[in-house]
Amino acid sequence: MNYPFWDVGIGYGLLMASIAVIHVFVSHFAIGGGMYLVVAEISARKKNDSVMLEYLQKLSKFFVLVTVVFGAVTGVGIWFIIGLLNPTATEVLIHNFVWGWATEWTFFLIEIAAAILYYYGWQRLSVKAHLFIGWVYFGAAWMSLFIINGIITFMLTPGKWLTTGDFWDGFFNPTFWPSLWFRTGICILLAGLYALLVASLYKSGDFKARIIRYNSLWAIIGLVIMVPTLYWYWNAIPSSITTAAHQIMTMPIEAIDLAMWFAGGIFVLIVIFGFILPRWHHFVIAIILMLLGLGTFGGFEWMRESIRKPYVIEKYMYGNGLEVAKTQQYEDEGYLKQIVFRTGNDGADIYRHACQSCHTINGYRPLAPAFNGTDKIFIAGMVKGVSAIKSEMPPFMGTSEEASLIADYIYQRIDKRPLNEVYPLRGVALGKKVFDIRCGKCHVKGGYQDNTESLTGLSDEDYNDLLDNAGDLAEQMPPFTGSNIERQALIKYFKSLSKGGEK
Ligand code: HEC
Ligand code: HEC
Repeated sequence: MNYPFWDVGIGYGLLMASIAVIHVFVSHFAIGGGMYLVVAEISARKKNDSVMLEYLQKLSKFFVLVTVVFGAVTGVGIWFIIGLLNPTATEVLIHNFVWGWATEWTFFLIEIAAAILYYYGWQRLSVKAHLFIGWVYFGAAWMSLFIINGIITFMLTPGKWLTTGDFWDGFFNPTFWPSLWFRTGICILLAGLYALLVASLYKSGDFKARIIRYNSLWAIIGLVIMVPTLYWYWNAIPSSITTAAHQIMTMPIEAIDLAMWFAGGIFVLIVIFGFILPRWHHFVIAIILMLLGLGTFGGFEWMRESIRKPYVIEKYMYGNGLEVAKTQQYEDEGYLKQIVFRTGNDGADIYRHACQSCHTINGYRPLAPAFNGTDKIFIAGMVKGVSAIKSEMPPFMGTSEEASLIADYIYQRIDKRPLNEVYPLRGVALGKKVFDIRCGKCHVKGGYQDNTESLTGLSDEDYNDLLDNAGDLAEQMPPFTGSNIERQALIKYFKSLSKGGEK
């Protein structure tokens, strides 16, 4: 907590995603492309296939441009952004992997130089020298994946590093190998799909049918590598993380399910329009395939990012940069004492450190909809009980006063009308709304922390008692501070539950 803060309107998640998505797609493309070019060149040279060589030369222009321009610019962009968004996590990554990064940059430099030489050398270098440069291009690109992979997988599964602090334990962590091969499969798939896109623009004829078959084979090989390695990867993640994902966070599971459907779609389309009817292959199909490919990969990355919550480095540092090891210190001294750069607005400062890395008030993952029509005491209760909300959030470790400061900060920015005016409902419908806002974030019917059992079949008096004492029912549970209108509606809603059913 020793840095000035950068407020971003659209929210950190979106900002990071917008640049990381481009970078990750492009960098995997470039690696697969390198391999594709060299392997295809070797076979074309053997057969003295001049049409194929011409096609490869054209293709190499794109791969080189993409690697050099997009890869480099977005790569630097990522550093810029993570450094500003999560300085403490960036610091940990740099401290632990300084030599890893240095090696990675060296490989990247070699990759760029070789890529440029490879493109330049089609007519100017001997065949042998050209192929050699091609291998260097691919080898360096893959080695930078090798290294980055160690650091990315470390964030989800630091493994023995947590106790030893040893570079190699962190680097060759439990998901290192499955992730490396899975990503290699992705590289091959994306290269095949991109080559198919280019091929789809060719005039119909024998050559087109031939390269479409050839490129389809690449895509299929990529898929064949991805399926078992994904399974291996999932099983290498500690079961505590995957079980929690199944129970609380449906998002990562949905993401990976979606990725599987996309992969199945690719398989079907490739078999039909790549192998059975290659002459029917069309630009539109190639575009659909490309989108499905990016979707598959995106689903995987999305899963990996969300499954890690509430941590940014599993069991070591929370998503908001707070360190697990300093829990006691935060609890004893509060957050404010730890914040070195204070702006004079304490509420804003604590909010930034505790919540802003994942939320905005009104934009991405907004907090206003959860709090519109409520009050400061309720919000403060939610802040204190934040880790009991149905999602993986870091616990709030500050003091009660600090929770109230955050509550003030949020309260100033929400709709302050009473709940029954914000949502013009009446009777049971209003009661259900009150439940959704004041209870349902933590108690899910038929799901997480379901409390229907305790809320059915009571008398009016018991319901009123329950609401009067709500704040004492559990440490993380806020008191009931709704108006009398809300209270009556909520009780009506409880009663509708006992009469046989939720609406
Ligand atoms: C590490 C990331 C992270 C941090 C830090 C974080 N949250 Fe969350 N929060 C989430 C995620 C993820 C969700 C689930 C969002 C969803 O389901 O759309 C969530 C959901 C919520 C919800 C329920 C929203 C709804 O409408 O259902 C509330 C309220 C909330 N957070 C409040 C807070 C507060 C207050 C803080 C700061 C004390 C905070 N969060 C810090 C990640 C975080
Ligand atoms: C910030 C999270 C949070 C909110 C909001 C919340 N609760 Fe709870 N509540 C808990 C936790 C944690 C427990 C204890 C764990 C458990 O039993 O599931 C609990 C326990 C209970 C229990 C007793 C145990 C049980 O599960 O039957 C009841 C009854 C209850 N809550 C009702 C409510 C009602 C009614 C509201 C809305 C007015 C509410 N809660 C709002 C977190 C919350």
